[in-house]
Amino acid sequence: MSGLIDHLAGTRWRQVDVVESTGSTNADLAVAASIEDIDGRVLVARHQTAGRGRHDRTWTTGPSGALTFSVGVRVGAATSAMGWLSLLAGVAVADALARTTMFDAVPGVKWPNDVLIGERKVAGVLSEYSTRVLAGGSGRDGQAVIGIGVNTSMTPDQLPVPEATSVFVETGRAIDDDELAVDILRELDVELAMWPSRLDELAQEYRSKCVTLGQRVRLVLPGDNELIGTAVDVDAQGRLLVTADGGSTTAVAAGDVTHLRA
Ligand code: BTN
Repeated sequence: MSGLIDHLAGTRWRQVDVVESTGSTNADLAVAASIEDIDGRVLVARHQTAGRGRHDRTWTTGPSGALTFSVGVRVGAATSAMGWLSLLAGVAVADALARTTMFDAVPGVKWPNDVLIGERKVAGVLSEYSTRVLAGGSGRDGQAVIGIGVNTSMTPDQLPVPEATSVFVETGRAIDDDELAVDILRELDVELAMWPSRLDELAQEYRSKCVTLGQRVRLVLPGDNELIGTAVDVDAQGRLLVTADGGSTTAVAAGDVTHLRA
């Protein structure tokens, strides 16, 4: 992977570190973010022992068979567009996988950022925000850590849950993790250059990939509340707009979506 940086020339990714094993690349970059500038950094782990997923879940990939990495992005003060960062990472992964032209089904994004092949999840994104005090106490700087996990060569017995899949399971073929990482990072670089000033264009791109829109959905919201309705759109904050049967529309910032059969 040391050659990875050569393939990222001209992009924002200025430092690429590869470690054989760590707990969580997100945790590592989050620690770094509290003391230093992590903008443009990439941390790849061949293996994670304590991978973190959304909603405080663990992200299990086994000893090998997955591409796991995190990137650092300076975002300044928290903005309402922050929610879009993790959505865009999902698009970058779906686009990069689609370009491999290995799949019968086009990879899609389930809101907010699960990447699906057909009905099954092949990749996930966890984005976290932290601030650090600048030198001399001259203010605070906001930085995001965006973590991406793609099940690449995992075999069926290595998949953590039945709803998961891998590139290998879907295609019977191996994919080069490093090439996929480069492709995702180049895609993400283009998107981040457009964020947040060209959010409308990015949102259109997301809508075209989002398999949740137009579907009847059940959402488990924080606090175990449930919402059933039709997913109609995503707003400027990246929230899913769900219209319930009674006609009222709710903007959902975080939650687990189930696509219901009509
Ligand atoms: C999810 O779908 O729940 C998000 C999974 C995110 C997993 C990636 S793997 C690289 C990075 N490091 C972590 O600990 N988590 C993210």
